[in-house]
Amino acid sequence: MTDQYRHIQHVGDHGDALKHTVLAHLLTRFRAEHQQLYFIDSHAASGVYSIAAAQDWSSGIGKLWSSAFCEHPLLAPWKNTVLRCNQHHTPLHCYPGSPALAFLLLRSQDQLYFGDLQATELNQLKYCIKELENSFFTSDSAPKIHFYQGDCHTWLPNTAQQWQGKPGILLMDPPYEQETDYEKVALTLNTVHHLWPEGSLILWYPHYKEDLSFKLFNTIKQVIPMQCWQMDLVVRKPFPNDRLVGCGLLFINVPPVVLSEMQPILDGLVSLFMEYSGHCFFGPLK
Ligand SMILES: C[S@@+](CC[C@H](N)C(=O)[O-])C[C@H]1O[C@@H](n2cnc3c(N)ncnc32)[C@H](O)[C@@H]1O
Repeated sequence: MTDQYRHIQHVGDHGDALKHTVLAHLLTRFRAEHQQLYFIDSHAASGVYSIAAAQDWSSGIGKLWSSAFCEHPLLAPWKNTVLRCNQHHTPLHCYPGSPALAFLLLRSQDQLYFGDLQATELNQLKYCIKELENSFFTSDSAPKIHFYQGDCHTWLPNTAQQWQGKPGILLMDPPYEQETDYEKVALTLNTVHHLWPEGSLILWYPHYKEDLSFKLFNTIKQVIPMQCWQMDLVVRKPFPNDRLVGCGLLFINVPPVVLSEMQPILDGLVSLFMEYSGHCFFGPLK
């Protein structure tokens, strides 16, 4: 159940590879375009992870890190931030998750909102952010952070109005441990989209062995009036004891020109992770 979930158990899998490379690119792209940016990470988890404890590392980010594709210019914001977190030393010993990437990529005028259901994850995140702040920022040069401990399906609808008129990105990255999560995230995205029409919303979703992603897509198509896009990567048909066999990102209100630039990221990840029975897609939500 959700209160047992520990992101460290899955850190560095192909799901993180897709999510974090795209996120770092988008943050850099939006940062160049906007004087001030809002970034909301509703499922932030604990921030920075020890690679030694990351079981899925070698088949995920480890594979990407040692590939020629890692040198692609679109991956530079992500790669440089990972290196920065490791004080530019290789081999890497730690890995920044989504809130740590955003904290290191954004500026003092930007506003960051980090939430997690679990107090233990959020407390660890606060500790990591403090460490990053001490290592990389002088006084007042770090982005401003607001922390929320609790269910994002409650605090996001109560907070989203504050961001009206401001440009920014919401990343939702739930663990999908309950079947109802798929519809729930779609409904919360719809509420946030209405309260914060300027916001660009990004949702990570899994293709688990028992694939329930269709529930998410059906609800999104029913409730969200605008054309959403998806970047979808199924790496293989599931083995008997498989878990994550693919994943994707859903984009709501991300400028088409920005979306169109990201095809090479998917192409590069496909060449690394996709097995003979996999498939991929990037385009308007089918
Ligand atoms: C997949 S992890 C997030 C990883 C992080 N986004 C990253 O990329 O580094 C999912 C997190 O969501 C949290 N969570 C689960 N249900 C939640 C809810 N309803 N509201 C807020 N956080 C939730 C879990 O405690 C867990 O830490």
